[in-house]
Amino acid sequence: MLSSVSRRYNLKLSSVSLSRFNSSVAGFKPPFIPITAEKGFPDAVGNTPLIKLNHLSKETGRNIYCKAEWMNPGGSVKDRAALYMIQQAEKRGAITKGATVVEGTAGNTGIGLAHICRARGYKCVIYMPNTQSPSKMNLLRLLGAEVYPVPVKPFTDPMNFNHQARRHAEKLDNAIWTDQFDNLDNRQAHIETTGPEIWSQLNGKVDAFTCSTGTGGTFSGITRYLKEISNGKVLSIVADPPGSCVYSYVKSGGKSLERAGGSFTEGIGQGRITNNVAQDISLIDDAIRIPDEESIAMLYRLLDEEGVYTGGTGALNVVAAVKVAQMVPEGSNVVTILADSANKYADRIFSKKWLESKGIYDAIPAHLKKYVALE
Ligand SMILES: Cc1ncc(COP(=O)(O)O)c(C=O)c1O
Repeated sequence: MLSSVSRRYNLKLSSVSLSRFNSSVAGFKPPFIPITAEKGFPDAVGNTPLIKLNHLSKETGRNIYCKAEWMNPGGSVKDRAALYMIQQAEKRGAITKGATVVEGTAGNTGIGLAHICRARGYKCVIYMPNTQSPSKMNLLRLLGAEVYPVPVKPFTDPMNFNHQARRHAEKLDNAIWTDQFDNLDNRQAHIETTGPEIWSQLNGKVDAFTCSTGTGGTFSGITRYLKEISNGKVLSIVADPPGSCVYSYVKSGGKSLERAGGSFTEGIGQGRITNNVAQDISLIDDAIRIPDEESIAMLYRLLDEEGVYTGGTGALNVVAAVKVAQMVPEGSNVVTILADSANKYADRIFSKKWLESKGIYDAIPAHLKKYVALE
């Protein structure tokens, strides 16, 4: 299995001849796959660790594993989609040297694109809702991207950030709008990388998978791969924050797009069924909606008990994994995704004032409030 993964990623297993060292070293087998990203930054995307959450596994009697996607070189799961969409555009000849890559993004895809654009010599232009955390916008600017924060508008409105990004690209020569929501290269990145990595890391013993959706590329791609490789045996449950329609769409068999409420999480939640989600809707076994109170409490618990510093969507996904654990037999392996770290949101999610403004401060258990370190 390991050798097939290393072939897929072009990874270089250690080429150092151990016989040059003394005998105690000569017999030593490294407990990891040493990676050399020979082709630069893009080559370091993917192949992230799968971390077992010990306390939650013990508590539920099921093994809960999370994919540490913050360990991608740009800091999130979206590095995978960003890289794959650019690679495919290059293969199609849609962009050449000096091109401009334009995207509408809540942040992480933009960060991934900005890194890869720097590594490839492309210009990067990002449109994003002006409600996103200022630190994400600053990071994009630091990475050389041109950033346009725009008012939040529904997808049906021509001023929605995605349509503005598309129009920007259409006005330029040698430019693409990567269109992450409906571009199936996004989902394909997870069919070819994240799904196989999870399967390989658990030696094919995957019983259930759950995560939330933004574009849906991560959830759909992994679901597609795990369903196909397991002949449909892996249970796949989509998790949704308040204010997103995926839950009601799945529960109503495609009849409702109800999306009441809102969430403190950033990067997930939808008002429509994207092309990436639509491909695999028939593979979804069930949907669960996770209240913000449970997500924020889990975010602090993960920090305190597991040493895991994840953002809101990762915490929501772990709440979902705990619920999914109740649907499978004892000893089963349940997998979810930690899309990024808490870094970009720290000034919000560790601020008492901000948490109170969202009505979620009281959801943090008393013994964990010591982590609310900011005013
Ligand atoms: C923090 C975070 N979590 C989850 C997601 C959702 O991933 P996907 O777009 O693959 O559904 C995103 C997407 O941008 C994100 O930024």
